[in-house]
Amino acid sequence: MAIIMNGRQLADQLQDKLATEVNNWRAKGLRLPTLAVILVGDDPASHVYVKNKEKAVAKIGFHSIVKRLPKETTEAELLEQVQTYNLDQAIDGILVQLPLPEHIDEEKVLLAIDAKKDVDGFHPLNMGKLFIGKPDKIACTPYGIITLLKAYDIKIEGKQVVVVGRSNIVGKPMAQLMLMEHGTVTLTHSRTKNLQELTQTADILVVAIGRGELITADYVKPGAIVIDVGMNRNESGKLVGDVDFASVEPVASFITPVPGGVGPMTITMLMEQTMANGRLAHLEGE
Ligand code: GUN
Repeated sequence: MAIIMNGRQLADQLQDKLATEVNNWRAKGLRLPTLAVILVGDDPASHVYVKNKEKAVAKIGFHSIVKRLPKETTEAELLEQVQTYNLDQAIDGILVQLPLPEHIDEEKVLLAIDAKKDVDGFHPLNMGKLFIGKPDKIACTPYGIITLLKAYDIKIEGKQVVVVGRSNIVGKPMAQLMLMEHGTVTLTHSRTKNLQELTQTADILVVAIGRGELITADYVKPGAIVIDVGMNRNESGKLVGDVDFASVEPVASFITPVPGGVGPMTITMLMEQTMANGRLAHLEGE
């Protein structure tokens, strides 16, 4: 029987703290931060994610602007929109929702965002800073996972950490953050030959491979800590993670549920990094 890690509850607590801070700023007449979100096209999942971000900003009490652009938007038009937000002093954070339509070069767009306003942590400069061990803005999902582990007093130092999935958004920055916490890290992916053998060595197993319920109990060492980043729909339309919760929960010591585990923490880190820019602006005597 595992302890189920309640990301929803921790996210609510952290967001309540941010809301108190925003209230203090408002009482002092300080400018409240603004998060600008750009959403191109009509991917239904992306629209849901953006709505959730808007809701979180509203709950905490600062501002968001959501620019919804049609799927025919050209790369040049998108770059121009990014540049407008880069130059707007009232905007503290910029997020371009991914994936972008195929005709737009994602790397070019991420590179165009002012790295200081890159609250997603996807800009190559921020990725580079993270990988030399001097992080500034950090990709929100792995940042949220580290925050969740710390809240449950889970030590990473000296542990065998296995990350499944090597995306720029989760797997790679996750491996680096675990390394910075002195874990011994193995980064696995879809072409890994002996995946099961490797996952069985994990004291901490993070799964972000995008395959519904891939990780069953026979992939997990008894007593392991299992973090599930997956969000998939199974044949009956139910939201499931990359981990088969029913079979893994009895063998793990800690496990994150889907939903209510990692997801709420991701949004909270986005809020935190936007607020951090607001704090910085106040310190700079705005
Ligand atoms: N698409 C899926 N997850 C994310 C995220 O965290 N940030 C952005 N910008 N796009 C995403």
